[in-house]
Amino acid sequence: MVRLRTVKRAAGGGAGRHGADVSAGGAAGYGEASVHGAVAPRGGARYEDAFAPEAALTLDGVTRSYRRGGRSVNALDGVSLAVPRGRFLAVMGRSGSGKSTFLQCSAGLDRPTSGTVHIGGTDLAKLSEAGLTRLRRDRIGFIFQALNLVPSLSVAENTALPLLLAGARPDDPSVRERALRVLDSVGLRGRADDAPSELSGGQQQRVAIARALVTNPAVIFGDEPTGALDPATATDVLTLLRDAVDKEGHTVVMVTHDPVAASWTDEAIFIEDGRIVGRLDHPDPDTVARTMARLGER
Ligand SMILES: Nc1ncnc2c1ncn2[C@@H]1O[C@H](COP(=O)(O)OP(=O)(O)OP(=O)(O)O)[C@@H](O)[C@H]1O
Ligand SMILES: [Mg+2]
Repeated sequence: MVRLRTVKRAAGGGAGRHGADVSAGGAAGYGEASVHGAVAPRGGARYEDAFAPEAALTLDGVTRSYRRGGRSVNALDGVSLAVPRGRFLAVMGRSGSGKSTFLQCSAGLDRPTSGTVHIGGTDLAKLSEAGLTRLRRDRIGFIFQALNLVPSLSVAENTALPLLLAGARPDDPSVRERALRVLDSVGLRGRADDAPSELSGGQQQRVAIARALVTNPAVIFGDEPTGALDPATATDVLTLLRDAVDKEGHTVVMVTHDPVAASWTDEAIFIEDGRIVGRLDHPDPDTVARTMARLGER
């Protein structure tokens, strides 16, 4: 059973569905009721339900320290939260606040200095390097701003890459079939045999999403997946991620600086100095922008 130390129930059940906890006026907006490491489940479920082992992602007291100038600096500082399955979560905060560190520790790309991370029921600290590599390959999808598509492989082969790395044979018809199915879901089935260089930036980003979906992962992590896209293409990409959550039940954790991108999610958390300092349910662009501005003033 995963137990979280810093969970607090918002006063008066006030972790409302409309972001009242962070957006409440004045300093009270960052008061005791709003500053917690919990992500409340949707649909009126109780907080406690979110901390069951079947949560897609659970962090408990996660700290990541680096040595800088002879002393230890916490890039992440005691972060606890649980992300239920089927949730689309935005991770926001100023440059250097710890968002990428949060993502890397959550996704098993980096090991926390202390605290635990679970993907589903798996404690990442208990895995060997080889086990961690397998988990990343089989149960996690990544969408980075730098796309990392392999130029010499076709769109379909790039999409199927995680399956091939897991040992599937390239000539196995079910591999191509699966790749075509996810390419269909991102509107690119017709481009399966093209090279990535023949696609626009937004289309390449959609291939990266197809590749992240191809293993049917427990959690999809994105580090600013819409950061380099024009608004229309960003909307396409966000629509795809939203559909992955709503239609396929995927769980998506997305770092973004963009209040409009955050408004596509179910919930935004705000990180400052390695800590979760606020959260918004059903974030709207104005409230997110105001919250970001207030983080800048702190
Ligand atoms: N390998 C490292 N060694 C030392 N310090 C690091 C290392 N990686 C990150 N940091 C520090 O940890 C803090 C958080 O960095 P992180 O990359 O998580 O920020 P971020 O919120 O993703 O910022 P950005 O929005 O600019 O991408 C920063 O102060 C950074 O300098
Ligand atoms: Mg970053």
